[in-house]
Amino acid sequence: MTRIKSLLSLALVPAAMMTITANAESTLKIQSPSTRNTLVRIEPEQRYLILPVEEAVPDSKIDVMVNGQRVKTFYIRLAEHNVDFTVPLDLAPFMGKGEIMLDVEAYEHYKPFHEKDALPGFQKPFCWEKATFSDTFDVTNTERYRPLYHHTPEYGWMNDPNGMFYKDGLWHLYFQYNPYGSKWQNMTWGHSTSKDLVHWEQQPNAIEPNDLGSIFSGSCVVDHNNTAGFGEGEVIALYTSAGKNQLQSFAYSSDNGQTFTNYNGNPVLVTPREARDPNMFWNPAINAWNMILAGAMDFEMHIFSSPDLKEWKYESSFGKGYGSQEGVWECPDLFPLKAPDGTTKWVLLSNLNPGGKFGGSATQYFVGDFDGHEFKSDYAKTDTIWMDYGKDHYAAVTWSDAPDNRRTAIAWMSNWEYANEVPTKQFRSANTLPRELSLFQAPDGLLKMASTPSPEVNLLRGEKKALGGATLNAGASKTYALPAFQGREIVLGYDLKGATKLEITLSNKAGERVVMEIDAKDLEFTMDRRYSGFNNFSTHFPAVTYAPLNRAEAKGTLRIFMDTSSMEVFDSEGRFAMTNLVFPEEPYTDLTIKAVDGKAKVKDLTIYTLDK
Ligand code: FRU
Repeated sequence: MTRIKSLLSLALVPAAMMTITANAESTLKIQSPSTRNTLVRIEPEQRYLILPVEEAVPDSKIDVMVNGQRVKTFYIRLAEHNVDFTVPLDLAPFMGKGEIMLDVEAYEHYKPFHEKDALPGFQKPFCWEKATFSDTFDVTNTERYRPLYHHTPEYGWMNDPNGMFYKDGLWHLYFQYNPYGSKWQNMTWGHSTSKDLVHWEQQPNAIEPNDLGSIFSGSCVVDHNNTAGFGEGEVIALYTSAGKNQLQSFAYSSDNGQTFTNYNGNPVLVTPREARDPNMFWNPAINAWNMILAGAMDFEMHIFSSPDLKEWKYESSFGKGYGSQEGVWECPDLFPLKAPDGTTKWVLLSNLNPGGKFGGSATQYFVGDFDGHEFKSDYAKTDTIWMDYGKDHYAAVTWSDAPDNRRTAIAWMSNWEYANEVPTKQFRSANTLPRELSLFQAPDGLLKMASTPSPEVNLLRGEKKALGGATLNAGASKTYALPAFQGREIVLGYDLKGATKLEITLSNKAGERVVMEIDAKDLEFTMDRRYSGFNNFSTHFPAVTYAPLNRAEAKGTLRIFMDTSSMEVFDSEGRFAMTNLVFPEEPYTDLTIKAVDGKAKVKDLTIYTLDK
């Protein structure tokens, strides 16, 4: 039988002991030996302790002790009055190893454990009354805003994509993960794998917080030539240990990234100023590894080199005074791409927060040259060029060792301005669609980076409706009914003959709408999500975003991807991308296209349902 019982030996106030029946088999006995601590001894026979979470209350800190040794620490918003959702604490690693005890430290404002309520017979601890044991944890997802075909964790909070690499037919995606709640906390590397970039399977957590701190963003490489000395083909991760300082740490995996061992020489890099999110790659030009590290508060990126991934030599920094300097520079990436004239150029991704074009976090980039030592931008200091012109594209980085020389990126589909508040519960956040990157010559003379949905996204296509073309006279509009299914792709060719604008509206019966416009005069694409649905959880959410078409005339094709809570719009050649979250009360069921001030042509309108 699984039981939680009190730690009698530490009892200061025996009157405060309490027995609670947790479920048919389990009895919980807990005790509050001091004003702020509760000690809970567990004798588990079932694998999971299912803990209740209430989002509106502050975190408690739980130390898991085995035979008096601390083996794990995590923070959790233990429910006080309502259970918003539950999360599992996996006891398997500790079972059979000795006495297991939870040392729960609640903060002052956490009433059930607070002295004034606690002594002599402390207030009924709601969270332990609601805690249960189970051998399984149900991840069936019933939330209305959970995406149908975008990657999300099964439960819990997610932010940046981390450590992506491709090996032996599998795409690996790690991510900043909180397994104990749906707000940012307990940074751990979660892990998912996919054979095709669009069907993902969540794996056990790959790297958990340790004594150097929690596990912030970083990258992985496959060490094909055993430069680090852990074996050929070993997967090496470099991440930021976020404790008292931000330090760079090394971990290695001999089972293709399933489990990692932290290097006993950690940290491998200590910097004088705050720096994080190491991104490394093999550079044949110097026959060594390069690493790019975000000099967060200095608004620049630092470049290093190494023969063995452990000893890092500082080379140079790039970024002071370049692009947007209005936020912290984070999550860098640096990689080569072929220019249309066949030469090799380098692209430096710089995610920054805040300072994005439409507020909050966003991804800017620079095209230039890199010789393994120094990056030189082709752009003027005043050029700020965005990888995506929506509000919900952040921490974008690319896969290492992607097949066929592909450069494939993925981003976190949210914004730090409101990521913790979006209307979901048991999980928070999804990734964008995976995107292929390439270079093109833009009409303004700059060499820019195109982002197009990865070809595998077409695997999600189900039913196809070919609706043909239409010529719309000035002021005329046409409405098409959308398939009832919420996963959809709309492919829409356009040619603004004499019209100044083409208006594309997605709307529902509740009067909610997303209004998009192609502007022939300014050669811009605009999306207005101010009336798109539920939007009062943050004043930063309602927004109008706009992107340059990067075309010489208002003629081209759009691909519009809709999921339960997101819109991603691409120029078919990737000349712009725009990603915005939306939370409609009910699905958008109408598509209305209207020509403004003149004639416009709609060509080959096609609608697909999209599903896993
Ligand atoms: C970016 C970021 C990173 C950091 C991580 C922590 O979103 O702030 O710089 O490593 O999130 O979760």
